[in-house]
Amino acid sequence: MNNLIRVVDLCKSYYDGFTELPVLKGVDLKVKKAEVIAVVGASGVGKSTLLHLLGGLDRPTEGTIFYDGEDLFALKDQELDRFRNEEIGFVFQFHHLLPEFTALENVAMAGLIARQTSGVAHNRAKELLEYVGLGERLEHRPSELSGGERQRVAIARALVNQPKVVLADEPTGNLDQKTSDAVHDLLWTLNDQFDQTFIIVTHNQTLAQRADRLVQLVDGQVYAQR
Ligand SMILES: Nc1ncnc2c1ncn2[C@@H]1O[C@H](COP(=O)(O)OP(=O)(O)OP(=O)(O)O)[C@@H](O)[C@H]1O
Ligand SMILES: [Mg+2]
Repeated sequence: MNNLIRVVDLCKSYYDGFTELPVLKGVDLKVKKAEVIAVVGASGVGKSTLLHLLGGLDRPTEGTIFYDGEDLFALKDQELDRFRNEEIGFVFQFHHLLPEFTALENVAMAGLIARQTSGVAHNRAKELLEYVGLGERLEHRPSELSGGERQRVAIARALVNQPKVVLADEPTGNLDQKTSDAVHDLLWTLNDQFDQTFIIVTHNQTLAQRADRLVQLVDGQVYAQR
């Protein structure tokens, strides 16, 4: 099968005045559709940096990323924003839901931003929230939901545009074991049922073992893959 994503010699440095802080130093990686990849490595090694680049939230210092053969960083800023909104789903450690909006509105908004009509966005949001087991919580605001429920809303939001890939940065880092397990089960169900591709940064051993592939970052490079 062709690669959905190809990361080629990806380098990223941050600059503090004249001081260069090299973080990623030539990362190469291939991801096929419907794979679940776990990215692991020590704190500060550059896992979130890699995820941000994969999601087009930032540009690399060198190297690039191809999605279906298309060079992500050949896109102009505006095209890159559009690609990100329409083709990438993000799930973060702290859900990043908008506190003043309901679960339904939080999920639908991602569809509206990607230019779905209001009807389509709301229908799909409702469907997804029912799918993740929150059909009875549509009108709840984030403060009225449990941690696991919030994370399930964030997952529904990530899926609303049927993204090429869902990028998750320690999606269960903030949850107890039982709740994390339930969120992991949900990710795998989505993978089974919809062939959804996931790249998940995690410190969770169980999740890392369960992934199709494990990518370990050491000193700015892919040290080992399983
Ligand atoms: N915007 C930034 N400007 C300057 N330095 C940054 C910036 N973002 C990250 N860094 C630095 O780059 C390095 C990698 O950060 P990153 O957040 O990618 O690590 P990480 O592997 O996700 O760590 P953790 O497991 O703690 O989340 C760190 O040393 C961090 O201090
Ligand atoms: Mg991080």
